[in-house]
Amino acid sequence: MTNLATVTDDDVSRPAALGPRPYDVEKIRADFPILSREVRGKKLVYLDNAATTQKPRQVIDRLVRYYSEENSNVHRGVHYLSELATTEYENARGTVQRFINARSEKEVVFTRGTTEAINLVVQSWGRTNVGEGDEILISAIEHHSNIVPWQMLCAEKQATLRIIPVNDAGELLIDEYERMLNPRVKLVAVGHASNALGTINPLSRIIAAAHANGSLVLVDGAQGVPHIAVDVQALNCDFYAFSGHKVYGPTGVGVLYGREALLDAMPPWQGGGDMILSVSYEKTTYNALPYKFEAGTPNIEGVVGLAAALDYVGSIGLDAIAEYEHGLERYTTKRLLEIDGIRLIGTAREKAAVISFVLEGVHPHDIGTILDREGVAVRTGHHCAQPLMTRFNVPATGRASFGLYNTREEADALVAALHKVIEVFR
Ligand SMILES: Cc1ncc(COP(=O)(O)O)c(C=O)c1O
Repeated sequence: MTNLATVTDDDVSRPAALGPRPYDVEKIRADFPILSREVRGKKLVYLDNAATTQKPRQVIDRLVRYYSEENSNVHRGVHYLSELATTEYENARGTVQRFINARSEKEVVFTRGTTEAINLVVQSWGRTNVGEGDEILISAIEHHSNIVPWQMLCAEKQATLRIIPVNDAGELLIDEYERMLNPRVKLVAVGHASNALGTINPLSRIIAAAHANGSLVLVDGAQGVPHIAVDVQALNCDFYAFSGHKVYGPTGVGVLYGREALLDAMPPWQGGGDMILSVSYEKTTYNALPYKFEAGTPNIEGVVGLAAALDYVGSIGLDAIAEYEHGLERYTTKRLLEIDGIRLIGTAREKAAVISFVLEGVHPHDIGTILDREGVAVRTGHHCAQPLMTRFNVPATGRASFGLYNTREEADALVAALHKVIEVFR
């Protein structure tokens, strides 16, 4: 895929037989101002992208332009700025629709993030459609955001939450999953990629089996959208949730994709301005999709910033990003395995560039502290996936998670810093 962010005259005249230009990571890095800063007197090596990604100048500039030239409330005014802000907000919906290949803009609901998108489905679809004795299936490697809302629903409705098991590599046991499907299963909720292990789930098979059983599927795409090209029509999922801040956009904004017929049949979950057509004390009628689910003033700057982020990612191309990150993951894994006493948690065959590890004799928190002194930012802890830690019998792990701007030199810096950890603790 052509890297539009780095297209030059040379690219235009480049013979097609030569294929796409090599991935120009230095040029990409130059788009991210924060990557050139130092922390603790060392060059920043940012490997905490599964928690949040850094923002390119294109996104930062878009936010500044919004507040400098366009700021107003949306959907309410006839004045120039309100119309402008509304146009930009709605154009952003079109950008998201095209990015995930939804059939219609009506299927794109803006939320605060993945967590809110999942809670929307639970509160609206779940409370209407799940009853006593019904079952919801999730997997053993979900983020708390895709566990706790379902647990709350099941407790309220006396339904059962069942867990699809994983093998020691962190891969879902698909045969076991297929055996768990039965007429009581109303919905299957699984991640696209695991934030703690990197496992990429076989969504096509999971979704086909669920649909054959008459069950819906929600995909937690928080770690999918930044790393894998998502086509919700090809996936054939019923709901897909993701967060702006994990895909180089602002915090506080995210998306719920839902099939139009499903969203249409679902009741609103929050009441207030914007989600109504008319209000009287006797009766309120609700707005059409997607506004029915967007009560109150939305995160307008977040939404326009998200569109800028998706344009940015799209200009590089997710296929190119996925291929580049896969190379980084392979390289880093190989280098990490050279370290004495390291154990990788999560070794699935299909993996995003997320590497969890434990180091014999050193608590993950101490690893994080010493890496930080070397300027290397990783996450240590349970990664909002405590049941997964229990499954793998570890209290916590260190986690290096990569983004489109990371390099092999940064992987080397991680390895060198881990050797310092060993010097201190052994
Ligand atoms: C797999 C997964 N799901 C859900 C979430 C929650 O995302 P947010 O906090 O942006 O709502 C995260 C965040 O780390 C995640 O990695």
